[in-house]
Amino acid sequence: MKIAVIPGDGIGAEVVGAALRVLDAVTEAGSLELGYEVFDWGAQRWLDEGVGLPDGALEMLSRDYRAVLFGAVGDPRIPDMAHGREILLGLRRGLDLYVNHRPVVLPGGTLDLYRENTQGLYVGVGGAVARNGSVEVAIDECVYLRDTVERFVRHCLADLRRRGRRKVTLVHKSNAVPNTGRLWQDVFRQEIGQYPELTGSEEYVDSFCYHLVLDASAYEGVLADNMFGDIVGDIGAALMGGLGLAASASICPETGFGLFEPVHGSAPDIAGKGVANPYAALMSLALLLEHVGSAEAAGAVRASLPVAARSSAATPDLGGTGTTEGFTDEVLRLIELAHR
Ligand code: NAD
Ligand code: IPM
Ligand code: MN
Repeated sequence: MKIAVIPGDGIGAEVVGAALRVLDAVTEAGSLELGYEVFDWGAQRWLDEGVGLPDGALEMLSRDYRAVLFGAVGDPRIPDMAHGREILLGLRRGLDLYVNHRPVVLPGGTLDLYRENTQGLYVGVGGAVARNGSVEVAIDECVYLRDTVERFVRHCLADLRRRGRRKVTLVHKSNAVPNTGRLWQDVFRQEIGQYPELTGSEEYVDSFCYHLVLDASAYEGVLADNMFGDIVGDIGAALMGGLGLAASASICPETGFGLFEPVHGSAPDIAGKGVANPYAALMSLALLLEHVGSAEAAGAVRASLPVAARSSAATPDLGGTGTTEGFTDEVLRLIELAHR
């Protein structure tokens, strides 16, 4: 079994480097046979060769690999992140990774946020009219197919039931954006009836964000479209203690293919300084290990993270003075201790 590793840009490469040290350690320690291949897709390749997602990449990934471990894309030299859209949104759409699960881990329990990952405002329908180099008209359409919403909602509700959750909230904006809003409400009401153990509620996304910040413990499962899920994901990360902690899994339930990545970006403000927090990338690795059936290795990584975060190895975003390397050393030490 093989996984593809795409470090990407900025701190993406730094935190994925940390994740590979941990992956090497858990594969050596256990019976886990998980090979990997590293791909150099990112800003530098784009600038040098004009290549984002190389020809045949999607076919190659789905044929030869079970999953992707992804860092982050984004580079100040490419202001509109054209390469990143081609690579990251290309992988999400091209591999039909329509469920993006972003667990928001809080002291009182976990909030399971699910973001639809392929359509909505991200569908790429639109255009612009410019006059003398100045944009006068700009259109980005929000497009949802009923099938897309149905398969997403069904998968999320089944997943929440599997996790023993009791409450699920649909976030939408049907008061201002009525067409897609109503489609989502309609599908949600149709599907929730199949899950007597789940109590469903619906909230406008603005009011939801307000209540989430005031008291996140009121929520268990949250379903959001692509754009709202992106934004709520960062709010969830802030509630957890920062983007350095938030992990995510993008999966296609039908093929079983998954892409695992931190919620954060390439963080140009701290890139190259060796202080990026690898927690989110390591938690993404744990989600990947779980997904490919290595529950034991996943558990070892997962258990070490909060302990390392409370140690003197904690990175500056957590209020510490640690480094990416030092934090990873501490994680490796804790995993090794637990293995004895
Ligand atoms: P960002 O997530 O990169 O950074 C936001 C803030 O959080 C910064 O202050 C950064 O230093 C901090 N931060 C993020 N991750 C951290 C970590 N692991 N440890 C410590 N601090 C961390 O968001 P941004 O600055 O808005 O975007 C930078 C670039 O990344 C842009 O090009 C953007 O398009 C791209 N981006 C990519 C992804 C992705 O690849 N999935 C996600 C978000 C943003
Ligand atoms: C994320 C990012 C991406 C998104 C960007 C970089 C295209 O913000 O993974 O959350 O909007 O999905
Ligand atoms: Mn985002």
